[in-house]
Order: sequence, then structure tokens, then C-alpha cells
Amino acid sequence: GVSQVMSHGYFQHGGVTFPGLLYSPRSLEAAREFPVEDDDVFNVTYQKSGTVWMLEILSLIRQDGDPRWCRSVPNWDRGPWLETLLGLRRARANARPRIISSHLPVHMFPKSFFGSKAKVIYTVRDPKDVLVSLFHFARIFRPYRDPGSLGDFMDKFLQGDVPFGSWFQHVRGWLQLRGRENFFWISYEELQQDLRGSVQRLCSFLCHPLSPAALDAVVTNASFAAMSHNPMSNFSLSPGFILDQNRGPFLRKGISGDWRNHLSPEQSRRFDLVYRERMEGPPKNPSGDT
Ligand code: A3P
Repeated sequence: GVSQVMSHGYFQHGGVTFPGLLYSPRSLEAAREFPVEDDDVFNVTYQKSGTVWMLEILSLIRQDGDPRWCRSVPNWDRGPWLETLLGLRRARANARPRIISSHLPVHMFPKSFFGSKAKVIYTVRDPKDVLVSLFHFARIFRPYRDPGSLGDFMDKFLQGDVPFGSWFQHVRGWLQLRGRENFFWISYEELQQDLRGSVQRLCSFLCHPLSPAALDAVVTNASFAAMSHNPMSNFSLSPGFILDQNRGPFLRKGISGDWRNHLSPEQSRRFDLVYRERMEGPPKNPSGDT
């Protein structure tokens, strides 16, 4: 019926799939034309790679470890989404220096970024964990199609036939910016293993030094437990027509390696084969690359 089309209509833009409920060609064009400021900080990820975790860390660094901002303003207003019209409006209204979140692949990022001093923090995560996290997320996030079985969903994920397109294309595209002064990348697994050290590295990239006590406050307030208890960070304020939290929480497990509990050895091998094929060798033409 119409509502099916309305709620599960995906469209293509820049060779990438988007759910029509939140995004539109207009919002994506507005993102591309967005006037970036030199003091903007972009929190960029492929979805389910630790976006809201990094947002919490960046929010806390910005406030020198003081958790009041994180406890009083929802995360989607602290680091609004570049690719939605509402997010863009919020970004324009926010006080500088702004934090802006995005899942866009690099070829769809604001043109004005590339000549600016604005900073990008790119977080990557083991793609098998991204797949498992996205599989669960697709069951609670209404703008997404039901994922079906994990096996079928894995095929779609490996082909890039999911919102925001191919993980491989996203990561390879963004990591081509390595070596630029205003580009910093880190993994979800590093954040897990050494959050304090990761925050220190972030602080030096951001030229925002923190006292040891402030550093401790960032680490404490950005923990999975602290975020799960903070209504401004755990998405409990999301309306049910966006997030069906009866089927599970947004902050699901927050661990590395959960894929081992979900993928069969055969599925894991198949994943590895595609990974090797896609991640080794020269990057393919983005437009022909799935
Ligand atoms: P899981 O589904 O594996 O639990 P994103 O913000 O990009 O959508 O990513 C969501 C994933 O990051 C979820 O993974 C979520 O639990 C995890 N996450 C969020 N905050 C975290 C934290 N403080 N520590 C560890 N993992 C966190």
C-alpha cells in the first residue's frame, strides 16, 4: 500500500541508497552545498561504527569534561545530521565550534570542506560487527526495511545494497584522506581497548588540551553504562514511529566481536573472501564500485 511505499521507499542518489523517510535528493544536495566553517568538527562514520559514542566523546571534550551539555541536550541536537534538512537547520543555529555528524560517503560530502580547515574524525569498525549491529538496528529503525534473515541481509550488505551504500566504498573513499592535516581516523576497537589514550589523541588533533581530571571525566561520561543511563544519549526520547524500542535498545551491546555469536563459520569465510577482494588492490572507480 501507499504507507509501505512511504515508509520503506528507498531512493538512489550519487549511486548510493537512501531511505526516503528521512532523506531526499534536496537534503543531499543541501548537504553538498553546505558552507563549512573552518572551526567545524565533523563526526563521520559508516553507520553502526560508533557514531553516537564518538559524538559523546567530542561533546565532552568540547565542554572540558563537564557533562551538563550531554545531560541536557539530545545528541541529535549537539551533533546534528548533515544529510537531513532538520539537521542542517540545527547546524546553522548551533554555536561554534560546531560538531556535525554524517554518514555520507566522501564523494557526497560538502564541497566547501575540501578547501577548508574544518576537521573530520572518521571512525571505522570491524565490518562484521557493523553488519550484526546494522541487522539489529534495521529491525527497530522504522525508516529501514526489515532485514529478513541474517544470511540474506549479509548478501545485501556485501553488495552495498543497504542504506548509505557499500561499507567498502565508504571506508576506502574516506581513508584516501589519510595524511591530510585535518583528517583523523580511529577504530571502534581502539576506543574499546584504550578510551583514555584515544581521547588524548583526539585532543591533540583538535588542539584542545585537557587536564587529567577533565580527561577522566570524558572517559567516565562516555562509557557505555553512562550513555545508557543518559536519556539525552540513549535515544529513549526518540518517538516510536522512528525507533521501535520495544524490539530492542539503540545502545545494544557495545562490544567488539559480537559477530562470532551470529555468523556461521561458512558465512564468516564468505565475508572474508569479499573483504579481501574489495579491500586489497587499488580503489575502484567510485561510481562503478558497489
Ligand atoms: P552494537 O549494536 O554492536 O551494540 P552508531 O552510533 O554508529 O549507530 O553505532 C552504534 C553502535 O555503537 C552500537 O553497537 C552501540 O551499542 C555502540 N556504542 C554506542 N555507544 C557506545 C559506548 N559508549 N561504548 C561502546 N559501544 C557503544
